[in-house]
Order: sequence, then structure tokens, then C-alpha cells
Amino acid sequence: MAHSRSDPCISVFHLRKKYGNKTALDGVSFDVKYGKVFGFMGPNGAGKSTTIKILTTLLLPSSGNVKIFGLDVNKSSSAIRKRIGVVSQQPSSEANLTVERAMELYGLMWGIERTKRKEKINEIIESFDLQEIRNIKNDELSIGQKRQVQVTREFIHEMDLLFLDEPTVGLDPSARRVLLDYIKTQVKSGLTVFFTTHVMEEAEYLCDELAIINRGKIIAFDTPLGLKKKYGKENIIQIQLKEKISESILELAANISPNSQIIKDGENGLKISSIDSQNTLTKLIENFTIKGIKIINVSISSPSLEDVFLTMVK
Ligand SMILES: Nc1ncnc2c1ncn2[C@@H]1O[C@H](COP(=O)(O)OP(=O)(O)OP(=O)(O)O)[C@@H](O)[C@H]1O
Ligand SMILES: [Mg+2]
Repeated sequence: MAHSRSDPCISVFHLRKKYGNKTALDGVSFDVKYGKVFGFMGPNGAGKSTTIKILTTLLLPSSGNVKIFGLDVNKSSSAIRKRIGVVSQQPSSEANLTVERAMELYGLMWGIERTKRKEKINEIIESFDLQEIRNIKNDELSIGQKRQVQVTREFIHEMDLLFLDEPTVGLDPSARRVLLDYIKTQVKSGLTVFFTTHVMEEAEYLCDELAIINRGKIIAFDTPLGLKKKYGKENIIQIQLKEKISESILELAANISPNSQIIKDGENGLKISSIDSQNTLTKLIENFTIKGIKIINVSISSPSLEDVFLTMVK
């Protein structure tokens, strides 16, 4: 049967990948619909880039079934590659070319005709505010500027699906926002995006659905709000102390609230997730006071996506 936009754009089933003895992906399954932004999050080494490499036909799976546009990645790599954009986590640039020339070359590689190429480059330079670096050589750019060029040049060609592996690393807050908003506009006109990030606010701002991967397995899959509702039942207690958090303070907090998850929050802060937050907080204050540990500030808040993430990958 012919593939249509109501079928999944990306379909991954029981995907496994081994590097020698090391299992990087351990039975990953998920679907991504057309016209959506799918966020893939997980700690370092979880398997995000490995997944992207397989989905973009750069790496063969060990087993499982991966379809992009209904096409098998093992059999139809060139047909898939023509219709996708990929920004890998690995930096890449042409050291001796100016930003504009490098974009020219990139457009040429994609076989884009001259007038269209010029038009697209101008649009990218304008949209991402790159006028000032237009005539600067790549190896004279800052790290963030290089990343900006590497990410933005991808928009030179037409595509149905874009893979972005931590595109915003090194970008300043305004460049970051411009990129996220540009992606949003593209998605409105039909683009599908597979996006990885370690920045939760970004994931929340951009993604329709999120998967959290840990040690090669997907441990959660939902909308950002759904994840918070499902896994964020606990409230977060934040306590700022006058002194630095020592091992003995952590131990004390763990004894007071054995069922809570306790993490350091900066040098002087503690973050405690607790179902029974009022009671836990009272006990903590009592015990800290007895021990002469001075509290500067306390607060209780509902969980952020970051808290959900930290709880899940613990
Ligand atoms: N070429 C390789 N050879 C051997 N092991 C590899 C290779 N590439 C990745 N791995 C291993 O596979 C696992 C998953 O790596 P991957 O790069 O997919 O993680 P990631 O989720 O992208 O992490 P990060 O957030 O740090 O980018 C890691 O344990 C890593 O050490
Ligand atoms: Mg990675």
C-alpha cells in the first residue's frame, strides 16, 4: 500500500545496536508522526546519536526494523537521504572558506540551482542574523558561530525530515531562540523534526512528543505535559543552607526522608522530591535546626521537566 502522511514518518521497532560487546541500543521502539517535533533526551552515552546515525542511514542496525517515510533504512538509504537533513553532533566546517562560500558549496553539493542557492543563502543569513560573519572564514569563527553555520546551512535544501543532534550546544540564548523559532516556522509548513537536547526548557518549548532514553532503552514517551503529569507527582522541596552541602548533610536528609530522592542543587542547595512534601519539609527543618544547620531559604514547587528527567534516569 502507498505510504501517506497519516502513516508514521519514522517507525522504529525493536531496534538493537551493538558496538562489539557493548550494547548501545537495547530494543528501542517508537513512531514519529509527520509534521511534529520529536524530542529525544537522555544522559550522555544513552544512545541518542547512535539512534540518529541509524535513522539517517549512516550506521547499520544490529537488528530490528527502521522505516523512514515507509522505506527500510537497510534497503533504501539513498532514497531516504535525498529527503532528509542531518546536523550531526560532530562539528564540521570548511576551514578556509567564508561562511557564504561554505554555504554556496553546501548548496552545490545538494544540487541546488544557482539563483535558488543565492536566494536561500540570503534568506538564511538574514533569518539567523549572520550578516556580520558572512565574509569571515570558518576557522576564524567562534565555536558558537561555527555551530550556527553548521546548523543553519542545513536549511538550504528542501527536506521532509530534519535530524538535529544537540544543535544548540554553544549557541547563546538569542541565537538559540532564533533557531527554535525558525524550526517552529518550518514545522508549521510541514517539516518533521527529530531533535536531541540536554536542555529541558528547549524540549518543552519545541517538542510535541518526547522520549527519554537511558542505557539504550526508552523509559518514557509522552508529550512534555504528559511526562510531567505522569512522572512528576512528587513535589520538589528546595532548601538553601548557609553552609556547603556535605556528605553528612546529605546522609542526614536521606535518613529523615528515606523514600525521597535527594540531590545537590548548587553548592548550598538541596533538592528533594517527595510525595509527602509538607511533612518531609517539617521534619527536615526540625532536624537541621537541632543540628545547628542554618537554613536560608525553603520552597516547595511542582516538578519541572528537568526534575522528571533527573528522577527517571537516576
Ligand atoms: N563508534 C563507537 N564504538 C563503540 N562504542 C560506541 C561508539 N559510538 C558510541 N558508542 C557507545 O554507545 C553508547 C551510546 O553512545 P551515543 O553516542 O549514542 O550516546 P548519546 O546518547 O548520543 O550521548 P551524548 O549525550 O553524550 O551525545 C555509549 O556507551 C558509547 O560509548
Ligand atoms: Mg550524542
